[in-house]
Amino acid sequence: MKIGITGTTGRVGAALASYFTALGEQVVSLDRAQFDLINPERFDELLDNIDVLINPAALSAPDGCENFPEQANAINHLAPLRMAELCNIRGIVFLHFSTDYVFSGNELGKRRENDEANAINVYGASKRAGEIAVMQANPAAIILRVSWVYGADKPAYVEQTLQKILNNDLLEAIADKWSIPTSMKDLCEWVNFLLKNQASGVYHACNAGEPVSWHGIAVALQESMLHQGLISSAREIMATKLSDISHFSAPRPIHTAMDNSLLSHQLPQPIRHWRDALDEFVRDQLVASHHKPSM
Ligand SMILES: NC(=O)c1ccc[n+]([C@@H]2O[C@H](COP(=O)([O-])OP(=O)(O)OC[C@H]3O[C@@H](n4cnc5c(N)ncnc54)[C@H](OP(=O)(O)O)[C@@H]3O)[C@@H](O)[C@H]2O)c1
Repeated sequence: MKIGITGTTGRVGAALASYFTALGEQVVSLDRAQFDLINPERFDELLDNIDVLINPAALSAPDGCENFPEQANAINHLAPLRMAELCNIRGIVFLHFSTDYVFSGNELGKRRENDEANAINVYGASKRAGEIAVMQANPAAIILRVSWVYGADKPAYVEQTLQKILNNDLLEAIADKWSIPTSMKDLCEWVNFLLKNQASGVYHACNAGEPVSWHGIAVALQESMLHQGLISSAREIMATKLSDISHFSAPRPIHTAMDNSLLSHQLPQPIRHWRDALDEFVRDQLVASHHKPSM
């Protein structure tokens, strides 16, 4: 299977490229140098001989999108539309990534795939426009909404927090915004399964469990590190508020945790709890660093 992957300099794209290469698949890296999402004219020729196109490339920073809405629309909406059209015409399987930020975040609990998506910032709105365009142009496409991805080479919140805990840095985290983290390791398996099983449609691709804040993740991470001997004592993690962050130009949705049962029921095994995935991530760090347990 020849798999074209966009955004291979990014978190998800790089991890998927490594994963499929390790599986022995032929991966074609479609990074910005060849496949600039602002200029879709060349997409057609670049898809020659490709069986599957995976599109994690995006303008993914909410503040960047808020400040450059035309660019956000071009990259997050118009480029996926063109990819979906071409894949449909050429019989290429298309898998596209979206986000929990398509939701307004105004309701407690977990969102289902068909719940109303009413984004409150340019990022979420441009990603939602991309979803709708992809579904209309290519009903066979797969769209995965992910949230708070960690465990890729490019560090995310979980990796940064783990490092701060190891460094004994001052710890504070936002405690009034909720979602569910997504293990990159699990995400790779889900993508592979969906591609091999001719899936289509929108799926919520995050781990299972209750919604959690960044503060809750930091506490769970520290507990796991303590339990597994990566640190010898826990420290207080100060709870802060979203409103304490003054440099955000895009508003952030508050409750965007997603219900993954649709995807979970399709997989050979149910999706695991985010705490179990986080524990494994900590275990992997322990192995990778050959860190000796401190007593
Ligand atoms: N990571 C998360 O926690 C998270 C959460 C929710 C949703 N998502 C969604 O998941 C997907 C993957 O996210 P990610 O975390 O991997 O994003 P990322 O780390 O920000 O990577 C984005 C990728 O898109 C590429 N890109 C941006 N503009 C481009 C252009 N004009 N032409 C070609 N490539 C361009 C970037 O290339 P350059 O390096 O050249 O800029 C980079 O490789 C996105 O659809 C995102 O919306 C991610």
